[in-house]
Amino acid sequence: MMHGALEDITKAVGNTPIVRLNKVTAGLDVEMYVKCEYLNPGGSHKDRLAANLLRRAEEEGLKPGGTILEATSGNTGASLALLAAVRGYKCIFVMPDKMSQEKISNLRAFGAKVVVCPTAVEADDPRSYYQVAKRLAVETPNCFYANQYHNPGNPEAHYLSTGPEIWAQTQGEIDVFVAGLGTGGTISGTGKYLKEKKADIKLVGVDPVGSLYYDFVKSGRITKPFSYKVEGIGEDFFPSTMNLKILDDIVRVDDKECFLMTRDLTRLEGLFVGGSGGAAVAGAIKWAKEHGKKGQRIMVFLCDAGQKYVSKIFNDDWMRENGFLDEQAGLGTVRDVLGARYRQKLVSANVSTTVRDAITILKEGGISQLPIVDGGKLRGIVAEVDLLRHLVSGKKTLESPVGEIAEGDYATVTPDTKIELLQSALADAKVAMVTENDELVGIVAKIDLIDFLARAGQS
Ligand SMILES: Cc1ncc(COP(=O)(O)O)c(C=O)c1O
Repeated sequence: MMHGALEDITKAVGNTPIVRLNKVTAGLDVEMYVKCEYLNPGGSHKDRLAANLLRRAEEEGLKPGGTILEATSGNTGASLALLAAVRGYKCIFVMPDKMSQEKISNLRAFGAKVVVCPTAVEADDPRSYYQVAKRLAVETPNCFYANQYHNPGNPEAHYLSTGPEIWAQTQGEIDVFVAGLGTGGTISGTGKYLKEKKADIKLVGVDPVGSLYYDFVKSGRITKPFSYKVEGIGEDFFPSTMNLKILDDIVRVDDKECFLMTRDLTRLEGLFVGGSGGAAVAGAIKWAKEHGKKGQRIMVFLCDAGQKYVSKIFNDDWMRENGFLDEQAGLGTVRDVLGARYRQKLVSANVSTTVRDAITILKEGGISQLPIVDGGKLRGIVAEVDLLRHLVSGKKTLESPVGEIAEGDYATVTPDTKIELLQSALADAKVAMVTENDELVGIVAKIDLIDFLARAGQS
């Protein structure tokens, strides 16, 4: 072996650089750094996951010549495909159709087979990519199903690799770790290791508007997910690889914030990252503005690279078509729909309000559903039908607190959410709750949106 050479490319996984952010953080009094996982040979942090999953599979008897199968949004596939090429495995990848063509071509370049499935179906629909992958795993002989959403080897990869690496590189000089939330492997594994080393380290997750995680962490409710454009983060179900309990805080970002920050990271900092990198930094800056302390050292995880997104995030036409560029007026935002109702006193009930009083509030307000709050923070919604169901079942009485029967049958948006996204939120949910810093500041029903658009059309 030549001095300084690696045995093969898989040995180049990890040891990614940590770099200080200088321009996008102007005005903040924290120190912000990024962990450049996008410089891994397979293009993302998923190289660590693939290496660990394959190590475990080989220990359990997988032999070269066998097939690696995965339901992937791309990056895990790229990492597994690279490992498979070096180690002599076949690969089949099942992925949702919202994924970029570049990601699909990237997998095929390694000789992998790619099966594309519809995105607009529920996770338990037999056509969904999760279900198709499960079926292929059973039907293919000598097959290893990587199953990144439910394989404990996923968070373990980050516990064994990312966590110790960050700790060693920084010599423990890290106060906050911020990462986008997908399968949760990164935050759960890295976070576990870092917390073991430094109990008061803060773990902050970043979630896109439309995903389930944010509301669940903030209010314990499973709300209505809706689709968004940023790739790799946010989920419409709860993977078992995600340990939400480990989080100290969670921040929500919308597509526009993610993509504008992605472009800034590239143009101002020379960091050519994908949308989830922009999301993580935008989320970290938001968190730092509210909770950051002078001199605090915040590390943000940058997962994948920008090349795959040149026809989207880095393409002005695509950005404009989707209303993500400022020069594009678009239809407006949720704030415009709320108009004078923004932050106006809302009819709501406290978690401790009795069912009896909730009925009176519904009657007096002439409304059919009531937001339930606790100290101004949204905790759920109660509709007439819920009250009826609980009273008829005999499980609750007129004296029960409504907090106990509140449901999550709504989507949540922010005042800055674009109307195009609000429309997608209202496609499935009855109403959209508008929250700002977790406080309920308005409610939008389908009819409010229709009314707004009709009025806009007349002017
Ligand atoms: C681009 C990108 N960013 C972020 C993530 C989230 O990482 P994790 O699954 O470890 O939570 C993923 C995972 O699929 C990803 O592909």
